[in-house]
Amino acid sequence: MSVAELKRRRTFAVISHPDAGKTTLTEKLLLFSGAIQIAGTVKGRKSGRYATSDWMEIEKQRGISVASSVMQFEYGDAVINLLDTPGHEDFSEDTYRVLTAVDAAVMVIDGANGVEAQTLKLLEVCRSRRTPIVTFINKLDREVREPLDLLDEIERHLGVAAVPFTWPIGMGKDFKGVYDIQHDQVRVFRAGDDTANGVVETLSSLDDDEGERRFGFPWKRAKDEIELIGAATPDFDREAFLAGEQSPVLFGSAINNFGVKEILDALVDLAPPPSMRMAVERPVLPDEPKFTGVVFKVQANMDLAHRDRVAFIRVCSGRFERGMAIKVTRSGKTFRANNVVTFLSQRRETVSEAYAGDIIGIPNHGTLSLGDTLTEGEQLQFVGLPFFAPEIFQTIEVVDPMRAKQLGEALKQLGEEGAIQVFRPTHGGMTILGAVGQLQFEVVSHRLSAEYKVDVRIMPARYRMSRWVTCDDAAELRRFMDAYSVRIALDASNAPTYLASHISEIEVAQKAWPKIVFNELRERS
Ligand code: G4P
Repeated sequence: MSVAELKRRRTFAVISHPDAGKTTLTEKLLLFSGAIQIAGTVKGRKSGRYATSDWMEIEKQRGISVASSVMQFEYGDAVINLLDTPGHEDFSEDTYRVLTAVDAAVMVIDGANGVEAQTLKLLEVCRSRRTPIVTFINKLDREVREPLDLLDEIERHLGVAAVPFTWPIGMGKDFKGVYDIQHDQVRVFRAGDDTANGVVETLSSLDDDEGERRFGFPWKRAKDEIELIGAATPDFDREAFLAGEQSPVLFGSAINNFGVKEILDALVDLAPPPSMRMAVERPVLPDEPKFTGVVFKVQANMDLAHRDRVAFIRVCSGRFERGMAIKVTRSGKTFRANNVVTFLSQRRETVSEAYAGDIIGIPNHGTLSLGDTLTEGEQLQFVGLPFFAPEIFQTIEVVDPMRAKQLGEALKQLGEEGAIQVFRPTHGGMTILGAVGQLQFEVVSHRLSAEYKVDVRIMPARYRMSRWVTCDDAAELRRFMDAYSVRIALDASNAPTYLASHISEIEVAQKAWPKIVFNELRERS
């Protein structure tokens, strides 16, 4: 295991409320690193070009990012793994799981809208995992909210101390640039086109007269504000940042390439390299010689030309080598990883090696499931991959009964992939689908028809909530399941679930069965 390789890895995701500029920023990050040459490769959906990270037809139709993608690129000496997250709120479940695979996150905030609902939800996940966050306040080329208010909002809503690294000089038509507090210099804004290479005019040790002469009132105002925040905000403390308690804040305009390089620099300089991950048996350190990894996402039929499903694996320790024998600890089966890919958007590249922090994709036909731990032989199970109790339930029925078997197979795959939760009532009856957002049903229905050639009818179910039921006493759990057999269903991994129409039913059952635990969240373990 090369410690140098490990140290230069940075694995992060960009999170935001839809429309804050995540796609634009992602593209600019790739442009900067030279990973792509043409703007519009990632973005461009509204101009008719397809985004390369938009894999699924439905994304193209709806213009939202449904599938998560992974991109690896080099920036200076660093190797960056950038995990794209679906921005739409209906896909939060998938997004949450992606967040378990990163070591840091960039939070994009639309300067005009401030902290929005979806950002808050994602932030909760980051906070529970103590993921360090770099904040980017975007769209300064427009009239935005007062920067001081934005900082205040971040602190109040997100519960992290916001430490500005740059400060905007003006905004909208009067946006002049940013003052780099860390390096005591001004970076001058120029509305740029997509080909800008990040070279900006910088002015160092500008005295006030000169600043005012050049930038007018916005300069004076920025200086006053900086003085104010200088007194009110704490100094940057890397330990606090690493613990998720402080967030460096950068201002800019993604579409104009302004402030983007600073994000990359902050990630490389401040964000942590891969660190320890917890398994049931023991903590696993990234510099251990033996390879371990965890499947945090499975996507079927990602590329129809390949007709396979791909398990996305975060390497947790050691060095992965193509062709090595890998054990799936859940099944105990070993396979040779000959066909392994990394992703630069749609282009699949064959990788021959990967280190802790890297994401690899292994095409397979059902060998790998969400939450699986992969090792060179040791029996380990990484913890922390969350499944959330669905909030909407629908029944599903095949239109053509001759396709019932195909539906069963397709739902098994989609359930294992985590695209939707599939519940099979133990007493028989129609299969029930559970999701955290309505759109998931539409995606599943679309995919069943497009990818599996199965047309279905999806109708509201009478259940409104579910809880995974567990108990230390297996016999008691058995008795409970027998007593409530009409309400018990098994999910894709055969975990028993109690279905209810109203929270009071759960409360009543809980009272009657105090030893049974009703879980809203299931972690794969
Ligand atoms: P998302 O992935 O977070 O949903 O956001 P996305 O990048 O798609 O950006 C949402 C909208 O905000 C887009 O405009 C995009 O061009 C715009 N945008 C992103 N960064 C900036 C910025 O720095 N300044 C300004 N003024 N706008 C920005 P759109 O009109 O919805 O799409 P398009 O027609 O530009 O493609």
